[in-house]
Amino acid sequence: MIDVLFSAGGARWPAYAEALPAAFAAKGLKVRLHRDHDRPEAVDYLVHAPNGSVEDFSPFVNAKAVLNLWAGVEKLVGNPTLTQPLTRMVDAGLQEGMVEWVTGHVLRHHLGMDRWITDQRPLWEPVIPPLARNRRVTVLGLGALGAACAQALAALNFRVTGWSRRPKEVPGVACLSGADGLEAALVQAEICVLLLPQTPATEALLNADTLALMPRGAFLLNPGRGPLVDDDALLAALDSGRIAHATLDVFRVEPLPADHPFWAHPRVTVTPHIASETRPETASEVIAENIRRGEAGEPFLYLVDRNAGY
Ligand SMILES: NC(=O)c1ccc[n+]([C@@H]2O[C@H](COP(=O)([O-])OP(=O)(O)OC[C@H]3O[C@@H](n4cnc5c(N)ncnc54)[C@H](OP(=O)(O)O)[C@@H]3O)[C@@H](O)[C@H]2O)c1
Repeated sequence: MIDVLFSAGGARWPAYAEALPAAFAAKGLKVRLHRDHDRPEAVDYLVHAPNGSVEDFSPFVNAKAVLNLWAGVEKLVGNPTLTQPLTRMVDAGLQEGMVEWVTGHVLRHHLGMDRWITDQRPLWEPVIPPLARNRRVTVLGLGALGAACAQALAALNFRVTGWSRRPKEVPGVACLSGADGLEAALVQAEICVLLLPQTPATEALLNADTLALMPRGAFLLNPGRGPLVDDDALLAALDSGRIAHATLDVFRVEPLPADHPFWAHPRVTVTPHIASETRPETASEVIAENIRRGEAGEPFLYLVDRNAGY
């Protein structure tokens, strides 16, 4: 019998209490699923999420892995008590949701939809948007989410450039990497999508210098993490017209404080960290597969690289 502790928080429990046992059964895994940890030494795996019920992982001396339900692990990688292997979530449902959010907001700006939707006065001034084939979109981060979004945009004919830490190949996407690659990716970013993880290396990656590389009137979408952007530099770039509009889903402080200038800025759209969400049904299949691997002595999927921080 395998003992699994669900330490991902009470609100998530009802959905996972149904989805996890079904996924374990589909893999033929005999699992006892717990919500508390009276005997932490008996726990084989933790299904975890930040702000869940466990902060100190040291009592889980026999745990074979901590399986995170979130894609982002910035709140966990620095936890000195978490010495067990740590996996992050790559989930088909999470990916699908992110593709939809990114595609929708890219199309909003590409087509200039605000002109027709939010402007209430009679308006008969035909403004024809360019075709997607003439619009350059840059996606910073070509991981599970960035690559899926880049490919979806390429399928709509956008001219997509992607940027990652290490060289990559993504069909239909011009792939760049490294510091020179960043500059080349930004100078052509008429629409820029941030899907990088939060690490020391990505802190304020979009700052006064890098924002200045982008074409005048560019659009910025940040569904990645708030600290990727220097807020003051972005506000200055919005005020100068360098950036025409920023659609932001994630922030340095969440919920975004009521007095933050982003709320009132006419060229900022705030969405409350809803770009995408791990979906219990598909995520449970990933958790079950990783437990099957752990039990079979096979390598875990989506293991976090502690040195890289993601
Ligand atoms: N807003 C939301 O609702 C929401 C939901 C889920 C996730 N997220 C965010 O989305 C992020 C991305 O998720 P994912 O699953 O796509 O992550 P991932 O698979 O780990 O991909 C991360 C990508 O970023 C690149 N990268 C990392 N550090 C870099 C650096 N210093 N310079 C250049 N590129 C770098 C990686 O390069 P390599 O390919 O070379 O490794 C990789 O392509 C998560 O970390 C999370 O913060 C947001």
